[in-house]
Amino acid sequence: MLKITAGSADLGSLRAPALALLLEQVTETTAPSPQSLDRGIATAVQRVIARRDFRGTRDETLHLLGVENGVERVLLVGMGKVADRTASLKRAAAIAARRANQAGFGRLAIHAGDVSADEAEAIAVGAVAGAWEMKEFQTPPPEDERRLALTEVTVLASNANAARDGIARGLAIGEGHSLARRLAMLPGNVCTPDYLADTAGEIATRHGMKLTVLGRAEMEREGMGSFLCVAQGTPQDPKLIVLEYRNGGDKPPVALVGKGLCFDSGGISIKPAQGMEFMKFDMCGAAGVLGAMDAIGRLGLPVNVVGLVGSTTNMPSGTAVKPGDVVRASNGKFIEIINTDAEGRLVLADVLAYAKRFSPSVVIDAATLTGACVIALGHSATGVMGSAEDVVQEVLAAGKRASEPGWPLPLWDDFKPLIKSDVADIKNSGGRPAGTITAALFLKEFAEGYPWVHLDIAGTAYSESDLGTLPAGPTGVPVGTFVEFVRGRAG
Ligand code: BES
Ligand code: MN
Ligand code: ZN
Repeated sequence: MLKITAGSADLGSLRAPALALLLEQVTETTAPSPQSLDRGIATAVQRVIARRDFRGTRDETLHLLGVENGVERVLLVGMGKVADRTASLKRAAAIAARRANQAGFGRLAIHAGDVSADEAEAIAVGAVAGAWEMKEFQTPPPEDERRLALTEVTVLASNANAARDGIARGLAIGEGHSLARRLAMLPGNVCTPDYLADTAGEIATRHGMKLTVLGRAEMEREGMGSFLCVAQGTPQDPKLIVLEYRNGGDKPPVALVGKGLCFDSGGISIKPAQGMEFMKFDMCGAAGVLGAMDAIGRLGLPVNVVGLVGSTTNMPSGTAVKPGDVVRASNGKFIEIINTDAEGRLVLADVLAYAKRFSPSVVIDAATLTGACVIALGHSATGVMGSAEDVVQEVLAAGKRASEPGWPLPLWDDFKPLIKSDVADIKNSGGRPAGTITAALFLKEFAEGYPWVHLDIAGTAYSESDLGTLPAGPTGVPVGTFVEFVRGRAG
């Protein structure tokens, strides 16, 4: 894990292999020259700005030479026109850390003018995200070809105590993000339902949480015919994982629910081969719950939170569920299976029904649920729907604070005829029209007895291509949204 400390804002005495200056869009006249910065460096910064070699547009970077025995390198990082300074600092810190890591600077000081505790937190979250990489399955290059990984970041601030508090919080959230991203990146043959249960066990031990794990036999006893029909095509034991964090007296808990499909082949309604490997990411909702629980534990928030993960693998086999089959969920509802690839909602149905026993104040689920959501909102916004408008707004606000924007879709009953079944109470697919909404309407039938919000993270939880700020792969969504929501509730 990246080490992050607070350092003095006095640049005159700074000795560092590299200094990142996070700058708003600049012109010659608005160009800042941080006070006490070495005269030579300050002049160089002024000149690249005057020459328009650096304009400070969003994500722009320029690498300058510094001086021996002082600031050895300078990395200018643009933030563009800044509307939300905290969000811009987070993004720029990610860019800075990623560049520093790629260039082999080893250590990086970050200067962004006066930073508050919240801004220091954002810089820490961004730096951890930018420095994150997954090297577990790659043989390291020979010694002489190895570059120095970024191991330490110093956030320069005039109020070092405030910065330290913010950094500690940022590191807690960063750990949660990194945990979720690692789990997501792990291949399906390593990250199995058992593996997720073991990881939940480690989180439980680390923070004194209560862990309950239901396997196939226990779920049969609970009558979870919906979840289990997805699991009947795989020999791996499915897992319903429950983590309980109690630090809020007798207040009803917030429940976080995640879809944990360690691989989604589509089952008998098998997916095309092209891009099927990305379906190892079909457990990003589960990774988000585990990452958020870890972060909440590290932050020591004074709240009660229950994390629930429904995990299995969707495979075709002689025993797999078939289109036309009818199953009965634990809340008694009969479901006609139209498409075995609409499996996430089947798993979540029983997990959402199970969540009711915790008498939660609210349940938020996150799932890589529909390809339709990627068509509707692309990779820049999570689809947000729910049974209580005020909580939908609360989740949208949390997502905004976390730089994980969501966007509402209408969860109107007008769409319900699309999932009406001729033989059962409901069918698991309404076809292509309004695919994200019909999936959420299906979930709503099982999210009874509490206010509920659903996050469709199919487009936002991972990226198939490099994002600039982050490499291709998992983004950490929805860890930040979950943490911000719970933090908001903690007051
Ligand atoms: N896990 C997929 C959704 C998905 C697709 C996530 C692409 C990320 C990228 C989900 O289980 C699924 O297959 N949904 C189907 C539903 C359909 C059969 C009603 C889909 O979106 O095609
Ligand atoms: Mn599927
Ligand atoms: Zn799926």
